[in-house]
Amino acid sequence: MEDVFKKEKELFIPFFSRLPVVFERGEGCWLYDINGKKYLDLVAGIACISIGHSHPAFVERVSEQLRKLVHVSNLYYTTPQLDLAEKLRDISGFSKFFFCNSGTEAVEGALKIARKVTGRKKFVALENSFHGRTMGALSVTWKEKFRKPFEPLISPVEFCRFNDVEDLERKVDKNTAAVIIEPIQGESGINEVNQEFMRAVFEKKDELGFLVIFDEVQTGFGRTGRWFAKEHFNIQPDIMTMAKAMGSGIPIGGIGVSEEVASRVELSEHGSTFGGNPLACTAAIATLEIIEREKLVENARIVGEYFKERLRKIGLNPRGKGLMLGFDLEDKNKGKAVEIVKEGLSKGLIMNYTSENTIRLVPPLTLKKEEVDFATKIIGSILDQSF
Ligand SMILES: Cc1ncc(COP(=O)(O)O)c(C=O)c1O
Repeated sequence: MEDVFKKEKELFIPFFSRLPVVFERGEGCWLYDINGKKYLDLVAGIACISIGHSHPAFVERVSEQLRKLVHVSNLYYTTPQLDLAEKLRDISGFSKFFFCNSGTEAVEGALKIARKVTGRKKFVALENSFHGRTMGALSVTWKEKFRKPFEPLISPVEFCRFNDVEDLERKVDKNTAAVIIEPIQGESGINEVNQEFMRAVFEKKDELGFLVIFDEVQTGFGRTGRWFAKEHFNIQPDIMTMAKAMGSGIPIGGIGVSEEVASRVELSEHGSTFGGNPLACTAAIATLEIIEREKLVENARIVGEYFKERLRKIGLNPRGKGLMLGFDLEDKNKGKAVEIVKEGLSKGLIMNYTSENTIRLVPPLTLKKEEVDFATKIIGSILDQSF
């Protein structure tokens, strides 16, 4: 592995801080490194591999499409794009779609649509939000470390205190194009927007006429025990962004909008070369079919509850919904998230830290109770250790 680490240092722009492992293949919830060591994957490529690694039906379907047609551009019609849009309409309640290649691109498009449709400039995002790394998405991302070096970004943007209705009322006004929300914040360590705050957002929307964008890039496609996290609130935003689990690792993102929003954008105002190509759309269709056939949304709900129970049994206080879980470290483990993740890796368990004090778990939605037992046994033993 040392050779690989050395070569990476030599060849890569130093943006990533990687853990010391080189993965070679995956099967279900398990990954194997180049020495054949096996790991239970509780990260799933950061909430992307919901159907499990190398799912046979996925491999077959995508391989078949690969042999048939990969890409022709949006200058022409292709049917996988329409089949995908039709499926998404059924599960999401949105009327019209646009496909791109990543989460940040989906957010970028959503912001453009919101400005176009409302004729207004301002965005309101939440503290601790993460919406991506391109200039628009970055502008509505909370962490100053990510934003500051790249200013001036798009403006005006205001950040509202998390779940603080009074602050929301101060920040939104007649110049607000949209409020952008992750229904459950992922990158900042699994923070759930509460019902009261969400109700206030929609009341203010009715009063002031801004749009509500739900960024479901991380929460989408069954992750939280519902197809989309919006269902936990029983509301329909104007725009929704999606990506991550959508193509099970084949890059694809998307934007869903209401009929009303779609009727107010015009030809050539947005586009993408690769977005929605036949290969990516087939990967997404295969993903949705597998999630449906194997009842993975329900599995996320059931196994997610079980996981929380087991984590409580080892003295943790987990939060989150479905299989989007997080917990903070306390007492002697406070501030030791990096050490704990590294120790997990050495014991064959892949976890993720979102800060020095928070662990995030976003495993494949195929996770079984036996695998949860395996994981919690290792987590328990690591937390008992001293670092
Ligand atoms: C909620 C949310 N939005 C947007 C993004 C950006 O997605 P991508 O990394 O695919 O550009 C992420 C990535 O973590 C995310 O969690």
